[in-house]
Amino acid sequence: MTELLIKNVRPYGEGEPVDVRVRDGVIVEIAADLAAGDVEVIDGAGQILLPGFVDLHTHLREPGREDTETIETGSAAAALGGYTAVFAMANTYPVADNPVVTDYVWRRGREVGLVDVHPVGAVTVGLNGKQLAEMGTMNAGVAGVRMFSDDGHCVDDPLIMRRALEYANSLGVLIAQHAEEPRLTKGAVAHEGPNAARLGLAGWPRAAEESIVARDALLARDAGARVHICHASTAGTVELLKWAKAQGISITAEVTPHHLLLDDSRLETYDAVNKVNPPLRESGDAAALRQALADGVIDCVATDHAPHAEQDKCCEFAAARPGMLGLETALSIIVDTMVTPGLLDWRGVAAVMSENPARITGLDDQGRPIAVGEPANLVLVDPDASWTVRAKELASISANTPFEAMTLPARVTTTLLRGRVTARDGKVGTAGADRS
Ligand code: DOR
Ligand code: ZN
Repeated sequence: MTELLIKNVRPYGEGEPVDVRVRDGVIVEIAADLAAGDVEVIDGAGQILLPGFVDLHTHLREPGREDTETIETGSAAAALGGYTAVFAMANTYPVADNPVVTDYVWRRGREVGLVDVHPVGAVTVGLNGKQLAEMGTMNAGVAGVRMFSDDGHCVDDPLIMRRALEYANSLGVLIAQHAEEPRLTKGAVAHEGPNAARLGLAGWPRAAEESIVARDALLARDAGARVHICHASTAGTVELLKWAKAQGISITAEVTPHHLLLDDSRLETYDAVNKVNPPLRESGDAAALRQALADGVIDCVATDHAPHAEQDKCCEFAAARPGMLGLETALSIIVDTMVTPGLLDWRGVAAVMSENPARITGLDDQGRPIAVGEPANLVLVDPDASWTVRAKELASISANTPFEAMTLPARVTTTLLRGRVTARDGKVGTAGADRS
């Protein structure tokens, strides 16, 4: 039997502080002044208790690019960021387009044991956009793959996308689309607008994203299927989501912390740490995304944690790979962009970082209410903390954070996965345990 007691914590930041007793992975008691006896105590004074976060969009790079991240280091970053479940994207080497790879990712995640790693299966073989992968066999494996995406690439052929939606619908799984019409982004490296024009960077139009969002909403409508839009980045996408939802189309969407906070004025320095796909847009787009997340037009936050090697980032802007680290900074960016300005309260944070992503993917043990009898997948947040981001202090192997040297509000202090401490005070595992 394992047991611990969280003392004086405020669930969802509401009401008077309470004690929460966790036994064998389950919340067994919530009341004031519970006796600790000789069990481990976590001091929750001044802290907020939330359901563990769920990230629908993480690149863990294993198999194939273990020089940039592994399931172990990415899991550590996730636990430190307050995550209890992550979905690992399929653009690995080899591609996760078959159950050998997806089951490996699942098993390795379990072995590491810091976060539930759910592999995302590829929609098409080798992410080639031409031939559907065997979603059924990946779904039937031990990983029970429930989300499929060619992320990094768009399933741009409308007939293939239509077939994918029909197939996914019959299996009860989800297609997540990286919405990018490739004919409009050939050679593009930055958001198409005044900044890119001035800096001489090839522009990436909003229409490249929006045309696919509109098309896929219609395809989902006709197939009676669900579709999920990865990393929404434009004000126009927000309008299309509103329209599609108003029609009753089963469409959901995520936004990344970096698209909520940053804009293309960052490109000035030509530092490729700011290169990401979809690109950082204009400040008006970021404002529209924040409002959409507050209003529920965008359903959830996803990090698109995308580690890259130094040689793939410290080079000419056009040659650099797109992507940014995100797992360890996500909560602080959401507090900065959403909680501090009054767009979300802590209930809202629980919704967009835990409950909604769990619901979208049908995870029945994540994003649960903080209540007796529920699994103890939990995170404690110190809302009054502030910290300065230092890439070299992050658990990721890679260092490509755009938030370097920024001082951010709020910090995850403790993460519990099924009642086990997976991160505490910046260290992985139980208190005092070493990150390695
Ligand atoms: O910036 C990005 N990086 N966007 C993607 O869609 C893929 C990702 C990656 O794999 O590096
Ligand atoms: Zn993507």
